[in-house]
Amino acid sequence: MRIVFIGPPGAGKGTQAERLTEHLKIPHLSTGDMLRQAKDHGTDIGKLAGQYMDAGKLVPDGVIIQVVGERLRQPDCQQGCLFDGFPRTISQAESLDEFLRSDGTPLDAVLELYVPENVLVERLIARGRGDDNLEAIRQRFKDYEAITTPLLDYYKERALLYRIDGTGTMDEVFERIKTTVNSL
Ligand code: AP5
Ligand code: MG
Repeated sequence: MRIVFIGPPGAGKGTQAERLTEHLKIPHLSTGDMLRQAKDHGTDIGKLAGQYMDAGKLVPDGVIIQVVGERLRQPDCQQGCLFDGFPRTISQAESLDEFLRSDGTPLDAVLELYVPENVLVERLIARGRGDDNLEAIRQRFKDYEAITTPLLDYYKERALLYRIDGTGTMDEVFERIKTTVNSL
């Protein structure tokens, strides 16, 4: 199964992706985690990406598409995977379509996690990751609205979009996700 999680910063993509990948026994592809790991290892990609991430800005599409393309060629992705935080631009979505078309393995579903902004800010401030300061959070929200939300229509037109209420406890959200995924 191939699933995409879309949602604003703090929506619970990472939290729920961990649970769902365990449930479905597929790998978790978080571009944010991959970039943070590259940054920690001090690679060229990590150094470049780090500058954008610290400011809460999107990393250029070319970098992201290269990172995801390489990851998708790993054997553990043959049985499917869960994309967390990718794609985030129309250009990334088109590249993903191409990757999957050439492998003959289309997406099964795109799950949008929606949560009101005041709840998101509370969650992020409580977590306190490097990019969880108010300035970077504001930039991340702005880019989500302007650049990522057009993907919702992109996937709606392809009949792949499912909207999931991301409020309530982590267990409640996971139950909603499981109900949707089990109905696919
Ligand atoms: P990324 O790492 O993807 O960050 P994000 O989208 O800003 O989202 P978060 O990871 O902050 O939130 P989440 O939805 O995963 O929520 P989580 O489960 O952690 O990207 C970071 C940066 O990398 C970007 O800004 C960009 O620079 C770059 N990047 C990554 N991908 C890119 C791409 N494709 N293109 C370009 N640039 C890219 O939950 C948040 C907190 O809330 C946690 O503390 C959690 O414990 C808590 N929580 C979760 N669910 C609940 C709940 N139900 N109740 C209470 N607390 C909860
Ligand atoms: Mg995350």
